[in-house]
Formats: sequence, structure tokens, C-alpha cells
Amino acid sequence: MIRIAPSLLAADFSRLAEEMEDVRQASADWLHFDVMDGLFVPNISMGIPVLESIRKATDMFLDAHLMIAEPIRYASRFCRAGADLVNVHVEADRPEQIEKALLAVKEEGKRCGVTLKPATSWEAVLPYLDLIDLVLVMTVEPGFGGQSFMQEQMDKVRAIRRAIDERGSEVLIEVDGGVDPRTAPICIEAGVDVLVAGSAVFRTPDRKTAIQLLRGSC
Ligand code: DX5
Ligand code: ZN
Repeated sequence: MIRIAPSLLAADFSRLAEEMEDVRQASADWLHFDVMDGLFVPNISMGIPVLESIRKATDMFLDAHLMIAEPIRYASRFCRAGADLVNVHVEADRPEQIEKALLAVKEEGKRCGVTLKPATSWEAVLPYLDLIDLVLVMTVEPGFGGQSFMQEQMDKVRAIRRAIDERGSEVLIEVDGGVDPRTAPICIEAGVDVLVAGSAVFRTPDRKTAIQLLRGSC
């Protein structure tokens, strides 16, 4: 079944605990936590102390999306701060350093994923497929919420889906950016397992209906 991961970037930061509880009750599966360093992407969001506070306030599965240069520097610390899964961008360092970051996450007993920017080809996941738990395909340029969905990224999703299925592997595919009730079915049809949604969940008062609409069960 499709999993829904509301992105806290679109939540009301002055009421994070209530926002998290609200989407938990609205049947969200995971919470998505966006980390930006102002260098890898042209924006700065949240970091380790915020994640630590969130970890104390919820038992939900926390999916951290590190939009930071050289993620090996911080991967273990995000695990210890409470992430259940840590995603690193393949573009953020040399391949051997990316692999080290993924191994560091595994060493902490957490799940790991690689993330692809829109311009990165699907083959970039191949060196990591035996190591990772998830591939995150960006459907907007990372850095900001509220952008328009890039439907052309679905070819990438389909190619990665084929590679995973051919190996008989359990790796999940997640998409992030511009996912809403109109674009969610396009992602599901292409073979996505996890939908990240910021605006489509947190910028509506009725989160339960929003999440049902994303699942396609409304
Ligand atoms: C963008 C972030 C996304 C963002 C998605 O760089 O990675 O997780 O919060 O927001 P929406 O769903 O509003 O496009
Ligand atoms: Zn994200």
C-alpha cells in the first residue's frame, strides 16, 4: 500500500508537535524532515536540534532528506538525533564518499536512501542499489516547497522500478515535490511506494481528507 509522508517544511513551525499529532491522527505513515544547508540548495531549513525535539514529541517514522553538501560529515549525527531513515543526494559528494555516508547510517542501525535531483539520470542509483532501502526521486528542484510537479520524472521512476523488480529487491521508491491529489495517481501508476507531500497536506485544514485524496481512496 502507498505510504504518505507529510513534509514538515510546510507545517506551522510554531506548533510542530500539534501539527505532527494532527497528521498522525489523519493516518499519515511517515514524517518527512527537510534539511537544507544554504550551499547544496539555495535555502536553509532545519537541523539537528529541531530533529531531536521532534523525536521526543512523536513516535512516528522520521524520514530525513539531507539537502547538504558532503553528507558524510553529518549522517551519523542525524541518526543519533532521531531519524529512522536518512536520504543523501548522489550529487552531494564523490561516489565513494556517498557510499561512506550510507554505510555510516547503516552502522547506526538506521535505514538509508539515495536522492536524485531532476537533472540526474536514473542510472546514478545503480552503484548503491544493494546497499540502500529507498530511492528518493525529486519531482521539483530541491530547496523550496510549493513548486510544480515535474511529470517527466516519471520515466526515471519507471526505469528505477524496473531495475528494482528485476533484482527482486525490496528497495522503496519515494517522490518529493508538487505531489497533490492530481499528481499522486500519476506517481502511483509509475510505481512509487512513498509520496512526500508538504503543501497538499499542511496547507489544508482537513488533513484527513487531504491524505485520503493522496491515497486515491476518496
Ligand atoms: C523541497 C523539499 C520538499 C518540500 C515538498 O526541496 O524536499 O520535501 O517540502 O513540498 P511540496 O509538497 O509543497 O512541493
Ligand atoms: Zn524533501
